[in-house]
Amino acid sequence: MTSLLAVEDLGATGIREVLRLADSFVEVSERAIPRVPALRGRTVATVFFEDSTRTRLSFETAAKRLSADTMTFSVSTSSVNKGESLRDTVETVAAMGIDAMIVRHRSAGVPWQVSRWIDASIINAGDGWHEHPTQALLDCYTVRQALGRDDPFPGLRVAIVGDIKHSRVARSNVAAFSALGARVTLVAPPTLMPPSLEGWPVEVSHDLDAVLADTDVVYLLRIQAERMNEALFPSLREYSARYGMTRERAGRLCSSALIMHPGPMNRGVEIAAEVSSLPNSLITRQVTNGVAVRMAVLFRLLGAPEASEALVAHA
Ligand code: ASP
Ligand code: CP
Repeated sequence: MTSLLAVEDLGATGIREVLRLADSFVEVSERAIPRVPALRGRTVATVFFEDSTRTRLSFETAAKRLSADTMTFSVSTSSVNKGESLRDTVETVAAMGIDAMIVRHRSAGVPWQVSRWIDASIINAGDGWHEHPTQALLDCYTVRQALGRDDPFPGLRVAIVGDIKHSRVARSNVAAFSALGARVTLVAPPTLMPPSLEGWPVEVSHDLDAVLADTDVVYLLRIQAERMNEALFPSLREYSARYGMTRERAGRLCSSALIMHPGPMNRGVEIAAEVSSLPNSLITRQVTNGVAVRMAVLFRLLGAPEASEALVAHA
């Protein structure tokens, strides 16, 4: 594998390999000097045409902890504002000599296009409403870590709640969790479901209260207002009353249930402020694990073929 564009590129075996590799990098991240020479001499560029806090910072941190050089492209301060095209922009960055480009763009499919234009490995950091594969990997890793078992996924009941329609996180997480054997239920009002769910390996519910008691993982999604050009629900208040994870609803989950959110959160809309800090909320851990999981992805794509996990453990 030379690029990571979608969860499908990995399949269940590849996902499991990344999760196991991430264990080594969690260990590296906990060291006094959290750095290994695995990617010394390699250059990783983050090329984001859309805003990000977590994904960009964690990829850059991951690359630095692997001793790679990093390059940051921000659309707001770039020559895109002078009219430079997408193709010219990525070819210009590639011409400086890079090994991997991490791409985020508001249009679905852009990372695939970029992979046809340049030779570097491409990692999809979110394309439109389509995919966000490393988010799904870090989410699977966080569930596995929280449950303390190598393979907790077969039969695990995962409810993904909220704005599924506009969510690349939902698409990648459905693919990843279901590939590992989890049972995924999508919970949203009909207007926030994709127009067709044909071929999605999911169950569907429009009633959050009805699924709460039978759920092992509740995964809340942000209302992605920036992707809506019409009113898809009467008001945020009404949405929150029916689909928000309130303190009261959190109390009706089974005691071992886990609460997740990819961030950024709209506190008071899809999740109450106090719920995000409950002991069974994994939201901060998701962010922390994002670095180790992205180290695993970069290492898998760019590490020398002869490099082994021993290199990671003993460097
Ligand atoms: N940060 C995630 C994404 O970029 C989720 C979100 O924005 O709601 O897809
Ligand atoms: N979860 C996520 O992708 O966050 P950012 O949009 O801040 O990168």
